[in-house]
Amino acid sequence: MNVFVAKDKKEGSQKVFDLITQEMEDGAKVFGLATGSTPEDLYKIMTSSDMDFSGITSINLDEYVGLSPEDPQSYRYFMEKHLFSKKPFKKTYVPNGLAEEAEENTRYNKIIAENPIDLQILGIGTNGHIGFNEPGSSFESETRKVALVESTIDSNKVYFDHEEDVPRYAFSMGIKSILKSKKIILMAFGKNKAEAIQQMIEGPVTEEVPASVLQQHPNVIVIVDEEAGSLLNR
Ligand code: GLP
Repeated sequence: MNVFVAKDKKEGSQKVFDLITQEMEDGAKVFGLATGSTPEDLYKIMTSSDMDFSGITSINLDEYVGLSPEDPQSYRYFMEKHLFSKKPFKKTYVPNGLAEEAEENTRYNKIIAENPIDLQILGIGTNGHIGFNEPGSSFESETRKVALVESTIDSNKVYFDHEEDVPRYAFSMGIKSILKSKKIILMAFGKNKAEAIQQMIEGPVTEEVPASVLQQHPNVIVIVDEEAGSLLNR
């Protein structure tokens, strides 16, 4: 893993944008995209740039089960608001939170197989999850419906008016699918990510810290700010 410690989120997001630009110059055609507060600045930089993404296909990591694409809390809505409505892509895929489970898993796995991801952008949960692959997720997992753990529900409740509105399940691309990406950039900012980042990079590779599997991928760049990198020993 190559680790880059940026001064702050702004510098880190700019660095990711520069890497994306480079990947596009090198012929990247499919991006794996993430939601959450982490990539928000990156999407701002992308939308205010003069880059043309109309030849790029995007595949998002996950979606809450039970939320429609029009629901303002859905990840499809987030992506439309922050990126797709401002920068047209060739084709955008996000799991459908209203779909039937088995059908959606098959549909999404097919999409990933037919559009091999050149560059996957990832955030990380405070418990080390990537996408919604919670601790204990198999490294062999593909797209499936997952139960969110208490700490994730807790982190996500800031986005909802009532705690009981926070979805308990999500569709998530699996670990195995994420690992198939040619290149992976994981971003993390802020003190609350420091422990997960330390475990991911310096801890053992274990299903208890899903992101630690990235130690086994040949082409991973980790971009953190000083706070998220503050517990790293090297
Ligand atoms: C969410 C998403 C992840 C995201 C992570 C961190 O639950 N499923 O894809 O990377 O948690 O979110 P944030 O960037 O808001 O800290």
